[in-house]
Amino acid sequence: MSNPSQTTEVQDFEPRIVAFLCKWCSSAGSDLAGVSRIQYSANATPITIPCSGSVSPMYILSAFNKGADGVLISGCHPGDCHYMEGNYLARRKLYLVKELLQFIGLESDRFRMSWVSAAEGAKFAEVVDEFVEDLRVLGPQNRLKAER
Ligand code: FES
Repeated sequence: MSNPSQTTEVQDFEPRIVAFLCKWCSSAGSDLAGVSRIQYSANATPITIPCSGSVSPMYILSAFNKGADGVLISGCHPGDCHYMEGNYLARRKLYLVKELLQFIGLESDRFRMSWVSAAEGAKFAEVVDEFVEDLRVLGPQNRLKAER
């Protein structure tokens, strides 16, 4: 049985998400969610990137080091990358980054990858809402900040 004060903390906690969004698809998908007036959590700070494959693991660690509770990378669906194989490269990095996060003591579920096209505003909203709910359960990430 859960402690009522813990339940309140989970509900009050507003996770901070850094979202790296491919400009060709997911960034446009987030714009579509906005212009379609789809209601979703405002917890994600979007950073538009040329391709999901262009995100260095250092960017991800830097986001966590600066206090992000979660990091999202979102790109074109497999087969639709404008640079042919960038999202496949990103997908390979996903496993390495998750291992790295566990190695430094962070839950690997704080890092997430999704495929959202420019036509999928509703899906983008769902991805962000689900990530926010999952991060609420994990709680704030403050281990890296505490080590500074
Ligand atoms: Fe969108 Fe590569 S151009 S993931």
